[in-house]
Amino acid sequence: MKVCVIGTGYVGLTTGVSLAFLGHEVTCVDLDQAKVDMLRGGKCPIYEPGMEDLLAEAAQNLTFTTSYAEAVPGADVVFVAVQTPSAEDGSPDLRYLRRAAESVAQSLNHDFTVVVNKSTVPIGSGNWVDAILRDSFVQREDRPEGVEFAVASNPEFLREGNAIADTLYPDRIVIGSDNPRSLEVLNRLYRPIINQTFTPPSFLPRPEDANAVPLVSTDLASAELIKYAANAFLALKISYANEIGQLAAKVGADITEVARGMGLDQRIGSRFLQPGVGWGGSCFGKDTKALIATASEYNLDMPIVKAAREVNSRQRAIAVERLQDELRILKGRKIGLLGLAFKPNTDDLRDAPALDIANSLIARGARVKLHDPVATGRFRIEQPELAAYLSETIDDVFADCDAVVLVTEWAQYLELDWSKFVGLMRTPILLDGRHVLDADRMRRLGYRYVAVSG
Ligand code: UGA
Repeated sequence: MKVCVIGTGYVGLTTGVSLAFLGHEVTCVDLDQAKVDMLRGGKCPIYEPGMEDLLAEAAQNLTFTTSYAEAVPGADVVFVAVQTPSAEDGSPDLRYLRRAAESVAQSLNHDFTVVVNKSTVPIGSGNWVDAILRDSFVQREDRPEGVEFAVASNPEFLREGNAIADTLYPDRIVIGSDNPRSLEVLNRLYRPIINQTFTPPSFLPRPEDANAVPLVSTDLASAELIKYAANAFLALKISYANEIGQLAAKVGADITEVARGMGLDQRIGSRFLQPGVGWGGSCFGKDTKALIATASEYNLDMPIVKAAREVNSRQRAIAVERLQDELRILKGRKIGLLGLAFKPNTDDLRDAPALDIANSLIARGARVKLHDPVATGRFRIEQPELAAYLSETIDDVFADCDAVVLVTEWAQYLELDWSKFVGLMRTPILLDGRHVLDADRMRRLGYRYVAVSG
């Protein structure tokens, strides 16, 4: 099928490259010429494992352009995957979505095109985009005859750092539209994934337990709400583990054991119960805020979602309190942070816990040393005021340090020869911000091991 993807961020790029890999003819549009040039040269503008390999394997079906007029005409499906940043009041800023919809309408010329909201957009955006498309289309002087289009929602569930596997081997595909023909087109587009009939990429074999992928084919509003409901649930699952973790610390229980014991109940499930400094990234914070904002438009309170957010920000503060408990005085102390990205395998720093923790320590008079195996390039650009605190080497982070905090559980840190560094520290306090290190082993090595919950 002929596919156009507007926006080459995490969602757009992964969608475009994956669909091209499956054999569809894909054109990706981005207004940023530099990004398009990079992608044409086979280089990926974001850090995402495997993306450059998939770009190479899909190259024959993939075109990049800055022009809607080159990409939209003739497309069976147009995915809109532009950014929807948070506005001041927590509601998503839909400027880019509006502009994309207006531009798509200028180039529609096919007998039937499905325009798909792929970004996480507020509930009701399907109707809103449909209205913009129709208004812009009827105003066109060169309006062709026999052109039909409809809007669908196809929310994305990929995780950064795992984007390709989540796209090719998903838990489910959700499509929503009030137009049956759109559902049929999208069903056809995704058939190789739904039936798992494609030959896997050379670097990413099909997991042994991959089965046919369930398809949830529903109305527009339900598809839109599924996305928010799923992200908010994952966010509150983590916050729940963290809230129980605080009680565990008080009563002398081990939260890791508690989470394991809970998660083995199949009704609960063990994933997203990992305690620590909490969630960050561009999605959970923004989506929970947006869900609360949408509900308030209907005079509805969302106490559970609000609590998940409060618990999450409290975890960052608790990390600093733990350091204060150990060191008593933070002023003048040297504290190293291992991991800046909001989670491993990405260089994304949006709403990263490390930023809050570093700023809070600096505000309390501590001196920080910051390290990340991948995100420092982006950090220098996005956080120029903190860039002076970056350490090039792990030795430098530990040298003369009063405490080190593991903030992001990069594999590189888990595999460190921890015995090498304890002797470099002034006081060997190690705060495990993710509950991933072996406490007994760390204590044997001479560290004063503490965790966020206990
Ligand atoms: C999240 C969802 O998992 C995806 O399904 C969704 O598509 C995406 O948002 C989105 O809406 O675009 P992502 O933000 O990439 O994906 O990252 P996650 O792997 O979900 O992690 C989010 C945060 O939660 C990270 O900071 C991670 O460290 C933290 N986390 C995760 C925990 O603190 N504990 C856990 O048990 C799991």
